[in-house]
Formats: sequence, structure tokens, C-alpha cells
Amino acid sequence: MSFDLVFFGGTGDLTWRKLMPALFQAWRHGKLPAHGRILAVARDDRDDAGYRTWLKDRLQEAESAKRPSEEEFARFSALIHYLRMDLSQPTDYQRLKEWLDTRGADTVVFYLATSPHLFPSICEQLGACGLNHERVRVVLEKPLGHDLASAQEINRVVRSVFSEQQALRIDHYLGKPAVQNLMALRFGNVLFEPLWRRECIANIQITLAEGIGVGTRGDFYDRTGALRDMIQNHALQLLTMIAMEPPSTAHADAIRDEKLKVLRSLKPFDAISVARDVVRGQYRAGNVEGHAAIGYLEESKVPPGSHTETFVALRCEIQNWRWAGVPFYLRTGKRLAQRQAEIVVNFKPTPHSIFPGPTSANKLVIKLQPEDGLELQLLAAKGSVSGAEHEALSPVSLDLDFDKAFPTDRVGAYERMLLDALAGRLNLFVRSDEQEQAWRWVEPILDAWAANPNGLRPYAAGTWGPPAASALVARDGFAWAEEEC
Ligand code: BG6
Repeated sequence: MSFDLVFFGGTGDLTWRKLMPALFQAWRHGKLPAHGRILAVARDDRDDAGYRTWLKDRLQEAESAKRPSEEEFARFSALIHYLRMDLSQPTDYQRLKEWLDTRGADTVVFYLATSPHLFPSICEQLGACGLNHERVRVVLEKPLGHDLASAQEINRVVRSVFSEQQALRIDHYLGKPAVQNLMALRFGNVLFEPLWRRECIANIQITLAEGIGVGTRGDFYDRTGALRDMIQNHALQLLTMIAMEPPSTAHADAIRDEKLKVLRSLKPFDAISVARDVVRGQYRAGNVEGHAAIGYLEESKVPPGSHTETFVALRCEIQNWRWAGVPFYLRTGKRLAQRQAEIVVNFKPTPHSIFPGPTSANKLVIKLQPEDGLELQLLAAKGSVSGAEHEALSPVSLDLDFDKAFPTDRVGAYERMLLDALAGRLNLFVRSDEQEQAWRWVEPILDAWAANPNGLRPYAAGTWGPPAASALVARDGFAWAEEEC
């Protein structure tokens, strides 16, 4: 299969930090289909050689295992080309079409790694010059819109040019290997599904914690905030994967129909429940993993006195038979104690204990990063003899490290998403109705915050967020995973 993969936003952060390193890895692993061309599109005046040199320098910043050697870069970069385009000029799209037509590849993928306000006009221009034929797909990077209305407007324009099958909305969290394993755990094994319900589960916690701050993205982040940046998409997508009913097949729409049902079953927020069940915070100066960190308001390009949240914790419920009454806690933040993304499923305690001493309930931890694994916490008898009739039980873990279990052939999130986009595998892409429903659900939170901009709680960099986030969970008699003794 020959392909042309075009990156709009070819000199942007996303392209050189995530997309090009992921493509390089796919190439290095021999997974990139043969006969491919990669075209970076941007406004600067460069030629192929100039872009390749620029990219080579940028890739030096990639983590060492993903850095190409001289020889590797020389071979990989032969696939890479550059086209200068002013995205507002129809004639420049015509030049793009000519470039693509010189070969007529089997598949053409346009990856929009630009600011989302450009998506509608780029799609319209592509359509206007006939670059929406059946061999074309378009990948839309998040954030898709700023609220429900803007997301709907983007979708309206995208749909007027491309079919739903051609428009791939990316959420790179769905490409993380742990998320594939969550599907396998739930629907490829018989063990957990009977327990996966309100009768056996006390609560579920989704934590997407980052040690980093906003870095050089202060202006973007300040317009976005943690709710739009991480909860509306990544956290809610993980929630759908954990809570959905078994799909009837592995086809993209069978899976996406079930995910949509979860989003539609989420209990809607109103001003009262936002005040009670949603905590927002902003980091102040502190210390993250031994390094001093400045506060959010001191970060470059952040306006003075900003009220943008860098932390959100919330409690929500899914109103259906499987999950009624089970609290789901979602939490994300920048400059937290450490980089850690995990889903913790806390099971209920045994109904009656015959063992002495305190007992803890079972817990399943699905680790997304930094490690990729599963940990099942159980209680066991050590086999020692004590004066008591029965020995007190001790907690033990069954630990599965997927990087060790499957040392080869594992691919990173962006690598997988790019390969899926080229192959037209849609399972891991978000359908427009899912994405709009997620906006519909977060919008009352945005409205309540806009009406009361003063509810922001400060937290020191390097902590787990404001104390109110702990209180939110403690109110139900639970604790965040790291707070349990
Ligand atoms: C992006 C957000 O979608 O995800 C960033 O815009 C965030 O703010 C990033 O840092 C986190 O992704 P990962 O894969 O590093 O956890």
C-alpha cells in the first residue's frame, strides 16, 4: 500500500515532539507500510533538505532510546518532504493537490496538527480542490473545539466535506497499550466481568497526574485549562472504556456505540453539584521530585491573575443498572507529586470476616504510565503460626509488567494511532457524537466556573493537589490510592 501522510502544522510542537518520533519508531520497527511519503506543511520558507536538517536537530531532544542514529536518520528522512503553504490561500491547496497527484498514492492521510480554529477552513479548502475523495482520511488532533457549540461547528464543517469514516478524531490515550489491555482484561477473559458491577465494586478512581508544568504552552493552556485539556477527552474516554457494556463485536462502531451509552448515562451536573462535586486548583511554587518549580502565575505567557485551573478532581456517577450508586472519581493536574496515570478499581470488602485484625478490600490497579501493567491486590496468609486461632491476613500483589511480559512488538500511543490512521482502523478514534456528548457533559462545569471565577484552590507544586480533593473522596468514606495506608 502506498501512502502520503501530510502534517499540517509541520513545524509545530506536536509534530516534532510526538508525531515524527512516533513515525520514526514505526519505521524503525518495520511497521510503516512501504512506498510512503511524509509531507510536512508549514508557513516557513524551507525546502526538503532544510526541513530535514531542522527536524534532525529537534529529534536530538527525544529520549535517547528514540533518537535516530546518523545512518537511521539519513534513511528515514528520505521519506520526508516539505511544502510551504499559506493555509488561507486556495492556490496553495492547489499546489498541494499537484504534489499529491504526481503519484496518486493508495491512501492519503491529512493530519491536522494545527490550532483547532483552523480545522474548518482547512477541511473546506481540501474539499474545494477535491482532496476529499474516498482514498483520503483526515485526522483531527484535540482539542476539538472549546465548548459544545464550537465542537458542533467543527463537526458540521468536517461532515460537509468528509464522511464519518474518513474523519478520525484522535485521543492518544486510547492508543496507550494499557488501554488495549483493559479491553483484553474485560472482554478477553472471564475472570473480572462477573465482578465488574455495583454489587462488587465500591468506587473507581482515574488519575492522570503530571509532574510537568505548562512549559512553553502557557498561552494555549491558559485558554484551555485542565478540564478541557484532560478531563473532557482523555479521562472521559478512559471512563467509557472501564464502564461500557461488552460490545457485540470488535468493530469500531460496536465499541463506539457502547462508549456513547456510558457518556449519555453520566449524571448531569448543575450549579449545586458542581460546587459540591468538582474541585479546581492552580499550582503555586513548590518542589517536584527534588526540583524547585515556579507557580503557574509565574510561568511564561500566563496572564497575571489568571483563574485557569491546572487541577481538577470530580466525583461522578453513571446512571444505569450496572453502575448506579458507584462513585467514579476523576483527577488530573499539572505539577503534581509525580507522573502517574492509573485506574484504580476498589472492590467492596468481604461481607463477613472470619480472620482477626483489620482487612483491606481487593483492588485492581491498571497502570498506564510510567509503567504499563496490572496489579491485583489480594489478602493472603503468610503461613506463620501465632497465638490466635487464625493468622491475620497480609496484603500481597499479583503484578504484571507488560513491558517485561511482551518485550518486543509493543508500540507507543502515537505510533499506534498513526499506523491505525494509515490502515483505516477506526476502533481507537473518537466518533463525533461521543465527542459532542463529552462536551455536553462538561459544559455545566464550565458555566458554573464562569459564573464564579473565585473558586480556584491553590496547591503547592509537588503535592497531590488541594486538600479539598481528598475531602471530596473522604466524604464517601474512601481515599485516593496514595492516601491509603
Ligand atoms: C495532552 C495535553 O493531550 O496530553 C497535555 O494537551 C498533556 O497538556 C498530555 O501534557 C499528556 O499526555 P501523556 O501521554 O504524556 O500523558
